[in-house]
Amino acid sequence: MRKQQKIMKKALPKHVAIILDGNGRWAKRRGLPRSMGHYHGASNLKNITIFAYEVGIQVLSVYAFSTENWARPQEEVEYLMGLPKTLEQQFKDAFDNKDYAIRVMFSGRRDRLPKDVLELMESLEENTKHHTQMILNVCVDYGSYTELTEATRQICQQVKNHEIEIENIDEHTIQQHLYTKELPPVDLLIRTSGEQRLSNFLLWQVAYAEFYFTKKHWPAFKEKQFIQAIKNYQSRQRKFGGLKE
Ligand code: IPE
Ligand code: IPE
Ligand code: MG
Repeated sequence: MRKQQKIMKKALPKHVAIILDGNGRWAKRRGLPRSMGHYHGASNLKNITIFAYEVGIQVLSVYAFSTENWARPQEEVEYLMGLPKTLEQQFKDAFDNKDYAIRVMFSGRRDRLPKDVLELMESLEENTKHHTQMILNVCVDYGSYTELTEATRQICQQVKNHEIEIENIDEHTIQQHLYTKELPPVDLLIRTSGEQRLSNFLLWQVAYAEFYFTKKHWPAFKEKQFIQAIKNYQSRQRKFGGLKE
């Protein structure tokens, strides 16, 4: 806890986003099937979310399933889609209760998900919508290409309906049509497992984020590693195009 108090002294990132990568490699290294990596990865998400809440992070976005992940073998996709049900109680106990005022929301396409997954997502959103301390934004069937294409379509439709003038379209207009319209920009983006790419994650939202890459596989990314990432963020100088004071 002492370490935790230390990071609280400096400005915390408001919005942290994590690309949860490396479940498969974590499992392989242990001689386990990939599904076990996903299982441990999902339960780690619960622990890290609670830790982020205790530290005082306001928004945590996590990349759980991309629009490209449907290309994986059917068996793996089915396992991933079954995980919310398997972990339902654990997640409900963690977020849908009075001890943790965490609001859960989901970003991504909703038309391709199995019905039971969608129902579970919607009930978590509904039951936690009054929580104000922290937002957990879970990106499922999420991809920035889709998000930005969809936003463009909606804005064009508004122009067509004479609800908005082309001259009045600005950054705010675009922001208002994203899944993340209510969220502040990402301050710190973390990707586990050594890859250094965005894989179609929050392209607009990370425009001025600080990036942090770690070799740790997601199921092995614990409180200690989270603190390291935040400390590293706190050592950076953010200039937003201006000059250092
Ligand atoms: C991340 O772990 C979880 C998802 C993409 C669903 P991976 O499954 O990508 O694990 P690696 O990258 O193969 O190790
Ligand atoms: C990105 O990880 C998607 C998620 C973490 C959900 P991937 O493992 O799918 O990304 P690539 O294929 O290595 O770029
Ligand atoms: Mg991966």
